[in-house]
Amino acid sequence: MKHLSVIGEAGMLDLGARLGSALRPGDTVALIGGLGAGKTTLARGLVQSLLPHETVPSPTYTLVQTYDFPGFTLWHCDLYRLEHPDEAYELGLMDAMGEDVCLLEWPERLGALLPKDAMEIKITFQGEGRRVELTGWDNREV
Ligand SMILES: Nc1ncnc2c1ncn2[C@@H]1O[C@H](COP(=O)(O)OP(=O)(O)OP(=O)(O)O)[C@@H](O)[C@H]1O
Ligand SMILES: [Mg+2]
Repeated sequence: MKHLSVIGEAGMLDLGARLGSALRPGDTVALIGGLGAGKTTLARGLVQSLLPHETVPSPTYTLVQTYDFPGFTLWHCDLYRLEHPDEAYELGLMDAMGEDVCLLEWPERLGALLPKDAMEIKITFQGEGRRVELTGWDNREV
């Protein structure tokens, strides 16, 4: 486990970019944190480091935004509005996890369907900034 202090939106975008370069197809990343913690900001930094001209909206209402790369798709999901874990099948997420890169806001909504080997990014409020805890990234350069 590794802890970081991240000050400001720019710091969160930078961290997203750094973590993005450590990901591989098949990775599922659980973005854990309360309302307004910075989950979407981190995901935006990650996606924009790979696709600099892409606007990266919050998937609050669409639940899923996908970004296509050669060989894999990146899924950015906001599961807050998922009413039942089984809806993950309808979204196509159950087929994607383990194949594509999946970034999940509100991963708790998947219950037992969340892969056991998901890497975690846990964000908590710390003064004006955030504390970020990484779990399961030990074999990656971050
Ligand atoms: N490290 C940080 N320090 C200070 N402010 C931050 C940091 N990271 C993000 N923010 C700010 O926090 C606010 C909420 O960010 P964001 O929308 O990414 O949160 P979220 O966790 O996705 O929220 P939700 O639960 O609604 O999806 C934004 O204004 C963003 O700029
Ligand atoms: Mg969000």
